Amino acid sequence: MNRILLVAVFALASAEKAPRLKFVVQEPPRFHFAKPENYMTLYHQKGTDVLYVGGQAVIYALAFTDKGVKDIKIAVALDQNTKDACVTRFSWAKPMCDNFITVIEKVNDTFVVCGTNAGTPKCWLLNNTVVSDVPNGRMTSASDISPPFPSQRSISLSADGNLYSALSAVGGQQGSIRRTYGSSKLLRTESKWLLNPQFAGAAVIPAAQKYKEEIYFFFSEINKTTSVDEQPYRARIGRICMSDEGGLRNLLADSWSTFLKARVMCGSGNTPQQYNNIKQASVLTAMEKRTGIIYGLFSNAWDTTVVCAYSIEDIDQAFSTSRLKGYSIPLSVHRPGTCRNSTTSQHADTLKIIKDHPEIEDVIRPIGEEPLGLPTEDHFTHIVADAVLAVNEEHYSVLYIGTEQGKVLKVLHTNEEAFIISQFSLFHNEGPVLSMVIDSQKGHLYVGTAMEVQRLPLADCSRYGDSCPDCILSRDPYCGWDSTRRKCVAVPVGYNITTGALLQSLDRSNASICGDVTAMKVHSTVPKNVVINSNGPVFLPCPVRSYHATYRWEKDHSGQKHYPCSISGSSCVLAPTPDLPLKEGVFRCMTLENGLKREVVSYRLVFNSAILPTSSSFLGPSLLFAAATRWIL
Ligand SMILES: *[C@@H]1O[C@H](CO)[C@@H](O)[C@H](O)[C@H]1NC(C)=O
Ligand SMILES: *[C@@H]1O[C@H](CO)[C@@H](O)[C@H](O)[C@H]1NC(C)=O
Ligand SMILES: *[C@@H]1O[C@H](CO)[C@@H](O)[C@H](O)[C@H]1NC(C)=O
Ligand SMILES: *[C@@H]1O[C@H](CO)[C@@H](O)[C@H](O)[C@H]1NC(C)=O
Ligand SMILES: *[C@@H]1O[C@H](CO)[C@@H](O)[C@H](O)[C@H]1NC(C)=O
Ligand SMILES: *[C@@H]1O[C@H](CO)[C@@H](O)[C@H](O)[C@H]1NC(C)=O
Repeated sequence: MNRILLVAVFALASAEKAPRLKFVVQEPPRFHFAKPENYMTLYHQKGTDVLYVGGQAVIYALAFTDKGVKDIKIAVALDQNTKDACVTRFSWAKPMCDNFITVIEKVNDTFVVCGTNAGTPKCWLLNNTVVSDVPNGRMTSASDISPPFPSQRSISLSADGNLYSALSAVGGQQGSIRRTYGSSKLLRTESKWLLNPQFAGAAVIPAAQKYKEEIYFFFSEINKTTSVDEQPYRARIGRICMSDEGGLRNLLADSWSTFLKARVMCGSGNTPQQYNNIKQASVLTAMEKRTGIIYGLFSNAWDTTVVCAYSIEDIDQAFSTSRLKGYSIPLSVHRPGTCRNSTTSQHADTLKIIKDHPEIEDVIRPIGEEPLGLPTEDHFTHIVADAVLAVNEEHYSVLYIGTEQGKVLKVLHTNEEAFIISQFSLFHNEGPVLSMVIDSQKGHLYVGTAMEVQRLPLADCSRYGDSCPDCILSRDPYCGWDSTRRKCVAVPVGYNITTGALLQSLDRSNASICGDVTAMKVHSTVPKNVVINSNGPVFLPCPVRSYHATYRWEKDHSGQKHYPCSISGSSCVLAPTPDLPLKEGVFRCMTLENGLKREVVSYRLVFNSAILPTSSSFLGPSLLFAAATRWIL
């Protein structure tokens, strides 16, 4: 009852979809490009401190420390003849006649680098800082790996000593998924399997048995013959077995023998409001286990972006049980698309079915049947996910979402909701986030815009403050409250639930675990004295930390006189009204969040003529005005 009353009085209008906290990070380590890199390819090996950035005719090898970045620039230039030929042939695309690096992958221990090479793609091997040609015969044509121009999106993935490449369709080019380099047979998709694909990502899906491992490719298909009122885009997952060695001599000989694709929906149930264009995807899987979540970033015709989550078990189920589109005969024991080990033989019948019917009938729908509850006014450009082992020995998903304005949202995704832990403003020049890489082993997130690359720690627990409720209400699974040290600390690797004593409340905000919160002293700050003219202006600032909390001013101990608090930037300023004129007394800025009421700051207001109690501290009006001006601005 008490709680309900409080909520009613405070008129809890907290925008739950908004970030709870907002941080501005302007300290190193960061790296500024000398010229904008509007197309970038990132490569980072987990557990290291080096980030490779492929740009325009250059690869930057950036070595990060907590203090700064050491950079080495490796030139991957093109020869003048190639450039001249490009300029002559593609005069409309002159600025694109350069070598934009589109692929940096480590295959076994060798770095493979490919670039657009002014419309005639080329690959190289990179050894330390030396770029050399690829030995003949080890690789398909470079134009199967890299697009001729950087605006055509490509995806590359290195797995088990092989390189996999997906090229989006453009103009006369159809687009493909291929194995392009490595010890296994080089394979490709049949052209009729993909309809103008635009690739968004790829990931290895592990399995208990090696030969059952798969690769998922995420892409959109565009049907150019749809009528105006029809959606031309269809979001897709395509899958292949990594053990695939192609079909029979005269049937799919150089093509995948296990390719299947499915339609992916992102929207509310069966409503027409669907997001059909998948832009990017991030996959979380358990090691060597077939469970996990796929996060997809989608847009609709109005370019509104949303995030949908999918269960890998659901997708597995669909691929292994669904009927195939346009094929009504019941499937035999040799189900098309099943991964085979090297000893089981290939069946011509299965191959014939796959050749003409690679699409399953079942549609993949998101967890919870709708997109995550995130603000739609932000335009999302990139997403990466991390599975964080929390204090209760459960894994929690944390998403990092880059926006068009150069911000990064840190989001906790639980079974019930998406909770925006914080928003980071990172960049001096606020361009769109072009790329992100996460290193969960080392605990780093790398974020790139056309002007800058920056590294953030995943666990940055001291940011939340030094009280138990501040730490708990952050709902950051990387952080826990250490009651003996009285600090918000990163949950250490190998934390043991039986011996450890860290506190967290992740499923819902609940600061009660900090102890009996109601018994906490409400008036916890010492009022600062403020002397003003009774008819002069006054600005009493109160710093806003949580944007999920409500703020207001209370006068004296009665707790009954409430002055509104008008939020201006990151401060809530006491705003007297004609109905509530300023009077002498103690003003306390109170915050309420999740039923927890706390005092932020307090002032004792004294009019000029009155006599000050001598024992208390004194804050001069000039100082106050200075502070207020800063807050107001
Ligand atoms: C890379 O270069 C070093 C010398 O700088 C050489 O010893 C090494 O064999 C090279 N590695 C490969 C894979 O070519
Ligand atoms: C990668 O290593 C494996 C095992 O050593 C070898 O069989 C394969 O040929 C190598 N792949 C490449 C591309 O060098
Ligand atoms: C493209 O859309 C048109 C009109 O809806 C339809 O007739 C056609 O079958 C579609 N093409 C494909 C390949 O799905
Ligand atoms: C391959 O599959 C067959 C039949 O399922 C099985 O008997 C055999 O042990 C498998 N071999 C390997 C290497 O997994
Ligand atoms: C946690 O600590 C307890 C008690 O020392 C021990 O018995 C248990 O094996 C530990 N658990 C793990 C996962 O290390
Ligand atoms: C909050 O935590 C306390 C102590 O663990 C528990 O008794 C209470 O039920 C929790 N409240 C909610 C809403 O989960």
